[in-house]
Amino acid sequence: MIKRYIKDGDPAKTGPKARIGRVSMVILILLSAYLFSPGAVRSQSITIAGDADQGDQGPWMKAKVEEFSKQTGINVRYIGRPLSTTETLMLWQQDWAAQTADVDVYLIDVIWPAIAAPHAEDLSKYFTSQEVAEFFPRIVENNTVNGKLVAIPFFTDAGLLYYRSDLLEKYGFKNPPNTWSELQNMAQKIQDGERANDKDFYGFLFQGASYEGLTCNGLEWIASNGGGHIVESDGKVSINNPQTKSILKTVARWVGTISPKGATTYQEEESRNAFQEGHAAFLRNWPYVYALANGKDSQVKGHVDVTSLPQGDGPNASHAATLGGWQLMLSKYSKNKDAAAKLIKYFVSFETQKDNAIKLTRLPTRPALYEDKDVLAVAPWFARLRPVFESAVARPSTATGADYNKVSTTFFQTTNQILNGAISVDEGVSTMESEDEARYALNHKFQSKHANNMF
Ligand code: GLC
Repeated sequence: MIKRYIKDGDPAKTGPKARIGRVSMVILILLSAYLFSPGAVRSQSITIAGDADQGDQGPWMKAKVEEFSKQTGINVRYIGRPLSTTETLMLWQQDWAAQTADVDVYLIDVIWPAIAAPHAEDLSKYFTSQEVAEFFPRIVENNTVNGKLVAIPFFTDAGLLYYRSDLLEKYGFKNPPNTWSELQNMAQKIQDGERANDKDFYGFLFQGASYEGLTCNGLEWIASNGGGHIVESDGKVSINNPQTKSILKTVARWVGTISPKGATTYQEEESRNAFQEGHAAFLRNWPYVYALANGKDSQVKGHVDVTSLPQGDGPNASHAATLGGWQLMLSKYSKNKDAAAKLIKYFVSFETQKDNAIKLTRLPTRPALYEDKDVLAVAPWFARLRPVFESAVARPSTATGADYNKVSTTFFQTTNQILNGAISVDEGVSTMESEDEARYALNHKFQSKHANNMF
């Protein structure tokens, strides 16, 4: 067809102008044939801002992105998030403020739906209600803001206690600790014994740096001691109570005794590395640690088991694991929403989540995978600890909405100062209470004014 056009003998169709015209026409024909062919999607290119290089997570997600590209022909650029969730939020918020179309899909923390909502496409346009019903309803509800499905649950998380089964046996302990005081005693005894071989050995490691992870640890200490949830679901600031103060005093005493002084700078990876190199008896961390601590490069493989975190001693004490987890969000500013939605579907599919569970022991968001025999063969504790995951304690992100990050920042900065010994527990708790209350007093005023305007 192209040949026939060029062969045409009319001189008006053979001059330089006509040649340029013909060339453009040919390009146009080729381009539209390409764009409107069934393989049109091949020309699309999207970007996902995904997992950090926490253990094998970044490389795993990158490999999956490549697999998706091969299957669909959609070209995907991968950007890894920073290790700290607090820093990740700062970056994503810069993008959202600029309304950039550079990133199509974002990995977002379970505590951010209200913050992300104005920048998210409603995913119920891309997932039928039947499809949405395949995920844990509680997380779907968490991710729904004013009727908008802001993000689809990708994997969930819950705080767990890892312990060295060989050391428990060596020091005559039959079971892991049920209470924090049991943990303290066991940690001390094992530490005293192990220091003879390893001067860097500690009883208990956790995440005490000034970032979101400390809010997760802190909520576990407080809730497990009957001290509430920092801010309650009705918006009441509950942080200032005797159970909260007593557990924070206990934890502050651990720093420099059963836990290293440096614990106040630890995030997930620092604490995992020290534990995995054999320098600790107990570790608080998320499910991903199991695959790594028992992996081929681990110094302690085969000697690591996992259970629920201890509870406090008081009458209202109960086991508490903070609910964590990550979701996929489609940016409202994306110029390739259909291709981006395909990538999201691929990541939250049964098969991809199964691979995530088997290779990285990250918790699926599809209940069906907790009964999958291949998954249970790798991580039998997915079944044993399912009640822990299902009753995990949410941070006050629904109650505080778009203000959550401010409330959490006040909490982790102040708690970090308490753990560093810079301020007393009483002082810290009163500061948190007054800062949160001031924030809420302002908000309530704003909300009631807003409500009045509406009627
Ligand atoms: C994990 C959790 C996330 C939490 C973060 C804190 O990534 O999944 O919800 O905010 O840890 O460090």
